[in-house]
Amino acid sequence: VTEQRALFIIFGGTGDLAKRKLYPALFNLYRKGFLKENFAVIGTARRPWTDEHFQEVVRDAIHAEGALLKDTSRFASHFYYQSHNVNDTEHYTTLRNLAEKLDQKYEIGGNRMFYLAMSPRFFGTIAKHLKSQKIVTAAGYNRVIIEKPFGRDFASAEELNEAIGRYFPEKDVFRIDHYLGKEMVQNILAVRFGNNLFRALWNNRYIDNIQITLSESLGVEERAGYYETAGALRDMVQNHILQIVSLLTMNMPASYSETDIRREKIYALKSLRKYTPEEVEKNFVRAQYKAANGQRGYREEEKIADDSSTETFVAGKLFVDNENFSGVPIYIRTGKRLSQKTSRIDIAFKAMPTNIFAPQRLGQNVLTINIEPEGKIFMQINVKKIGQGFTLKNSHLDFFPTSNGESTFPEAYEKLFADALAGDATNFTHWEEVAHSWKFVDTIRDTWDKQNDVLEEYPCGSMGPQASDKLLERDGCKWFYQG
Ligand code: BG6
Repeated sequence: VTEQRALFIIFGGTGDLAKRKLYPALFNLYRKGFLKENFAVIGTARRPWTDEHFQEVVRDAIHAEGALLKDTSRFASHFYYQSHNVNDTEHYTTLRNLAEKLDQKYEIGGNRMFYLAMSPRFFGTIAKHLKSQKIVTAAGYNRVIIEKPFGRDFASAEELNEAIGRYFPEKDVFRIDHYLGKEMVQNILAVRFGNNLFRALWNNRYIDNIQITLSESLGVEERAGYYETAGALRDMVQNHILQIVSLLTMNMPASYSETDIRREKIYALKSLRKYTPEEVEKNFVRAQYKAANGQRGYREEEKIADDSSTETFVAGKLFVDNENFSGVPIYIRTGKRLSQKTSRIDIAFKAMPTNIFAPQRLGQNVLTINIEPEGKIFMQINVKKIGQGFTLKNSHLDFFPTSNGESTFPEAYEKLFADALAGDATNFTHWEEVAHSWKFVDTIRDTWDKQNDVLEEYPCGSMGPQASDKLLERDGCKWFYQG
């Protein structure tokens, strides 16, 4: 563990994300020695908070118990609050003065991490002022970490990117997709490129189809305002699902490095097949949850329009037309208020060319990477049943990364913070990845925006509308994960 020196300036420091994810993640880095004495955090937002109140919020956010409580107070003493109006140039001068003071006090050496955890419409103006009011330093690095959503379509994303790019070069821009910080998502490359067994099979000659499910049991919760303008396609498919698709279908990079990995991911995303409107209709399903099992429907949620047509579920079939994957259907689905919180990937292999055991049937080989709730990898293989005669059975090979004495999974944000501190952007999305993902999503969104009456419904607690199952049945498949 190398200690890192940095001054964090968190825009949106009073927000939900900061409390739920960022402060706990920073605390874990502190506990583990990535952060020691030479760091400070400035939280900024409009509200007029005192440092004391801010520190109390930070301590509460960490949920520490027992012996850790002592660390909590020391840790929180590095936090300072500055009320701030992002449009007011003078406020940036106050911010600079505080930043300089803390830089000296904690001997930070000029390293600055600007974390933008607020509405993207402010990103441009913040970036501009950070530069013009000299909050960026010449002594150390100046990195911007940017929360989603990065735009709401390609055009707005491009605008946003230019607004930031005018002041920060691509190498200093760290776009968060927290799925890339998850252990099991990072395991995709380990499995694919660390095992010749899988490398050899990982293509359209052996893979029959891929299924990605990111299901949530929660509803829209307190994010109605944002969610109404986004919907599941923008909220989950453009980023998390397409990132997983790129990791599953990219070609082997020349090395395990930021540049090589991102280059191959960009190619994979560029190879996503763009659908015509007719193909969108055929290959994508959108739906909204309706009241069931004691839970209210989406339109009954607070601050949601009675006639909202926002989709809370998407299922689709897509293709990555590169050398190894063209022709392999990739089925995806994600939704809110589904039966379980589960994130998983199923990779189904093709049947044996002939079955010498007929009339006994051979089960399908399926490799599953379970991301959540439990991190595990398992594979279905056919083996012989013990005993006389020769009967086959379908069995599981299981791998639990946490059960062999290795520690529990670090939280995604903790890993991503550590990467950003080390200047490693491998697990952050490059602008071109974002651009290709939006272009793909835009073709779907455009088609949907021109039709009105095709929003399906599904009951809370189910696994989505029937149309989602039909999408696979049509191809003679079914979702392996049934909820
Ligand atoms: C976020 C979405 O990006 O991911 C949320 O905006 C969603 O709507 C969340 O709930 C899911 O993340 P996780 O880590 O809980 O699977």
